Amino acid sequence: MTQRETWTTRLGFILAAVGSAVGLGNIWGFPFQAGRNGGAAFLLVYLVVVLLVGLPAMLIEFVVGRRSKKNPVDAFRELGYGSWTFAGALTAFIAFWILSFYSVVGGWVIRYLVGSLTGAYFGGTEVGNYFLSIAMGPDAVAFHALFMLLSVGIVALGVSDGIERATKLMVPSVVVLLVGIAVWAATLSNAGAGYDFYLSPDLGEVQWGTVIPYAVGQAFFTLSLGMGAMITYASYLGEDDSLPADGGIIAVLNTLVGVLAGLVVFPVLFHYDPNIDLSGAGGSGTAFTTLSSAFAGLGSGGRVLASVFFFVLLIAALSSSISLLEVVTSYVLDNTDYERSSVSVGAGSAVFLFGLPAALGLNWLGLQDASGIDTLTWYNDIAYNLLLPLSVLAVAVFVGWVYGRDALDEIRRGSETGNWFSVTWLWFVRLVVPAGILFTLVLGVQTLLVNAQVLAGPVFEFG
Ligand code: PFF
Repeated sequence: MTQRETWTTRLGFILAAVGSAVGLGNIWGFPFQAGRNGGAAFLLVYLVVVLLVGLPAMLIEFVVGRRSKKNPVDAFRELGYGSWTFAGALTAFIAFWILSFYSVVGGWVIRYLVGSLTGAYFGGTEVGNYFLSIAMGPDAVAFHALFMLLSVGIVALGVSDGIERATKLMVPSVVVLLVGIAVWAATLSNAGAGYDFYLSPDLGEVQWGTVIPYAVGQAFFTLSLGMGAMITYASYLGEDDSLPADGGIIAVLNTLVGVLAGLVVFPVLFHYDPNIDLSGAGGSGTAFTTLSSAFAGLGSGGRVLASVFFFVLLIAALSSSISLLEVVTSYVLDNTDYERSSVSVGAGSAVFLFGLPAALGLNWLGLQDASGIDTLTWYNDIAYNLLLPLSVLAVAVFVGWVYGRDALDEIRRGSETGNWFSVTWLWFVRLVVPAGILFTLVLGVQTLLVNAQVLAGPVFEFG
């Protein structure tokens, strides 16, 4: 077995973890969710959820990773609780699963970047048709392959030479470029209407029963929890950093990028159409079509704006996908003598193959409409609504109720926060985190059933 790698610096770890957290979920997903669910009111709920559920849950994964110094599958045995290996195996399985469709969407992003540079969808053609023409079929497969290839290229170089070096460049670029285009977007006419929609709290709009579980699910996804990524990254920690401090920085930066993305998206959309109806936006394809129509409406300036936007989206997506690929890679590396480069190529190819049905729009499980888009939704649904909360729950129960004392030890190591902090944290892990997860699970299962019914029915309109 080869020597386990470590991060070179504390900043390296933090930026890699921020890179994992900041991704399609923040830039593509978050603004639309916030916009649709009561604007600033959603933001407020989301912030509270991140603080009370997301951050404690992230520290759970840090504890397991740093203490065991193993990939998620072997971590529990290493800690002396082999019977909990199923929890780690579940996280790794979800990482593999989610990456397979994350990469298909990543492929769309590359395609849109190219389309923005060349102006392919700026010529008055129906932007919705453009999306359909690239979302499935040979094109989608090719760009899915390219996205995986880029991810493999970084992971193959290693923890410090690949992931750490790449994310040190990527994360600051995402922030700087987003700030830049947010400032530009502020100069567009009607930008104010966009801010209004996004930021004015509309408590009347908030349906608490769905928004809270939704915010919990979003918080897990965007903080990269439940998929072993944070366990894996924390397993490369050599020094005794303060886990709570690092976790806090990561959560804050991650939230800021989500908020910032909205400050780009909404001024652009409301400039394009002051009466735009966003109630259906945010599905697998609608974010692309709505936004690209607005970019196209801006003419040549829109081309620059769109190119920068999709470039940001691409590097954010890549810095996330590498953390998912690293979960699978680290498992194989910890258990075999193969070289990292061959392992990452092997893992990347497997993910590529698993994602093929989604990229091809094949009728997977017989549960989709004729457009094929919903193979992707269905993939997403099971992983996101069911498996993800279950895996966070399993690891939380383990750390809270089984590993308790040792977990306290580990969270205190390198941290200057007092005992009150670690004890409070443990009780959050025992009670608040599971309660939040149960909420999302109920809603998630409901969504799954409704979608399964809709998809199995004869008519289903995409969008
Ligand atoms: N956090 C990423 C996003 O918001 O797009 C997605 C993600 C990456 C989830 C890595 C989980 C993970 F392990």
